[in-house]
Amino acid sequence: MTIVFATNNRNKVKEVQHDLDGGISLITLQEIGFDGELPEDGDTLQANARQKASVIYDEYGLDCFSDDTGLFIEALDGRPGVYSARYAGPASIAQNNIEKVLRELGDETNRNAVFKTVIHLIIDGEEMTFEGEVRGTIATNVSGVEGFGYDPIFIPEGESRTFAEMTTAEKNEISHRVRAFRKLTDFLCVEVY
Ligand code: IMP
Repeated sequence: MTIVFATNNRNKVKEVQHDLDGGISLITLQEIGFDGELPEDGDTLQANARQKASVIYDEYGLDCFSDDTGLFIEALDGRPGVYSARYAGPASIAQNNIEKVLRELGDETNRNAVFKTVIHLIIDGEEMTFEGEVRGTIATNVSGVEGFGYDPIFIPEGESRTFAEMTTAEKNEISHRVRAFRKLTDFLCVEVY
């Protein structure tokens, strides 16, 4: 089957694509000719994921899904959370968001955090959500050049490296996004490896 991944984030497409092996064919927004912005001004990951998928389903009538992700840091009362994309201000780049998190945490010893992803699927007009999360800690410095976003400061539980020091395959073994995505593919009864 074919399904549109409603995201403008090429890194997300790469990760999800990497996890597929037959069964599902991903179509990108570029391929359907959508070059607009996807809204995400809700107060929850669920609301944002639904907003993004709905724009594409309403405009093109194509089966699609979208993801919304947040990094929830215990010592910052769950921030940046649903505001992860714009934590350092509107249209802020990853480096600025990371700097703000590290500045706010300072020498705080509780560095527990969790990445959460909500995927919203719209298929034949039916809507479903799937969730995935991974626990970990926030490093004191940035490390690694792989991945994107907050990856250079997130060390998943049981690991000594940040996500940005891992290959896509290694990140995918444990990531919040792939955990949610595998629930989606299980739902669609497609075998993934
Ligand atoms: P969104 O899901 O695109 O709204 O992402 C929210 C924020 O979290 C953005 O700043 C992303 O760069 C960041 N983000 C999303 N997924 C990941 C990830 O897998 N690793 C690191 N940062 C991420």
